[in-house]
Amino acid sequence: MRNRSVATVAMATVVALGLAACGSSDEPEATPGGESSLATTAGGAGGEVGVFTWWAAGSEKKGLDALEALFKEQYPNNTFVNLAVAGGAGTNAKAKLASDLQNNQPPDSFQGHAGAELLDYIDAEQIEPVNDVIDALGGESVFPKNLLDRLTVDGSIYSVPSNIHRANVVWANTEVLNKAGINAVPADMKAWIADLEKVKASGVSTPLSVAGTWTQVHLFETVLLADLGVEKYNGLFDGSTKWDSEEVKTAVNDYKTLLSYANTASDGDDWPVATDMVIDGKAAYNVMGDWAVAQFADKGKQEQTDYQYFPVPGTDGVFLFLADSFTLPKGAKNPGGAKDWLMLVGSAEGQKAFNVAKGSIPARTDVPPTDFPPYQQSAMESFKNDQIASSIQHGAAVSLAWLTDINAAISKFYTTKDEAALVTDLASAASKYTG
Ligand code: GAL
Repeated sequence: MRNRSVATVAMATVVALGLAACGSSDEPEATPGGESSLATTAGGAGGEVGVFTWWAAGSEKKGLDALEALFKEQYPNNTFVNLAVAGGAGTNAKAKLASDLQNNQPPDSFQGHAGAELLDYIDAEQIEPVNDVIDALGGESVFPKNLLDRLTVDGSIYSVPSNIHRANVVWANTEVLNKAGINAVPADMKAWIADLEKVKASGVSTPLSVAGTWTQVHLFETVLLADLGVEKYNGLFDGSTKWDSEEVKTAVNDYKTLLSYANTASDGDDWPVATDMVIDGKAAYNVMGDWAVAQFADKGKQEQTDYQYFPVPGTDGVFLFLADSFTLPKGAKNPGGAKDWLMLVGSAEGQKAFNVAKGSIPARTDVPPTDFPPYQQSAMESFKNDQIASSIQHGAAVSLAWLTDINAAISKFYTTKDEAALVTDLASAASKYTG
């Protein structure tokens, strides 16, 4: 078994060095003829295929439903079993999954994040390589090499990527901004804080919306990225940037200021609660991954007229990255059916159906951008041209254990607002994992 901290550093280095601009291309590439060693049965292997995710409700479920419908159509011999556990970012799901894996009761496939989180499952020897599936799908001719690198250890590829999400997006209510006299996108944190003040002065008591702890970590990572810049931010994960540096202290201070403009959240509040505050005009801004765009669409809201989006001020030109992928767990009861699922998830048709509904962009490079709504088209452009940084909250940058420590520190800060203690907690967590 690999040493986890070494593996994490190795992955972080891949993250820091490797993933710049490996995105979707405007020119669809040809898919090779599909020669592969993967033995498949027309119509599917048969039997139940239990798929574990946290896409249990709302717009996220619609993405999964789109995949399920295609799976039933293309693999009629199989019975799809939806094992979704509710709770954004997998807060509840990951605990249930850990105990199921521990008890040798794995689902046939589960959702995992590309990067450090996947490495946890690889290190624990809980998942099998799926190189045959990736090859059958077209391998490097359809998936960006640098994305595959994040799923690979010692030449073995451990999951099939379904999508790429952007984390550093501000979603804003157009009418609320107009009332506050705001008609330009703020260039940096300072300008954004000035705008938050204007919104407050216009009579909105909570200009910024937040929900439970994981959404606060999500907000905090975007402030870190804004205040450190992409290189120093990426350095947080390989030990080259100190978590008690001046820049991190500035980010903690800005984060505290942002929270002073936010609603009081309870930890049970999930992301839709915060995004809905913007949709309903109770807040001007919410920082959320681009799964939020599916929520606006679901509520019938129109881009520009009703809502707008822009990179978190200070992070323009950087794509704060995360990707979902699906695995083949060791000891899965129906590995043949699981591979049918993986083939569907990784197919061009599956990626189009899923990502149009989910707000994300395809991991594959041969799905035409014109098949997507304007937001996703803009995200594809950004992913192609921007520098890439890895999300902390969504498994790209840090292991599950490190993330648990960061969540504890941010949760404590939400109550105490003690800046020095947060810096100390973050630095001591980092020292455990960067060695
Ligand atoms: C992320 C996941 C996204 C979305 C989000 C909110 O961790 O990668 O696909 O589901 O959580 O639940």
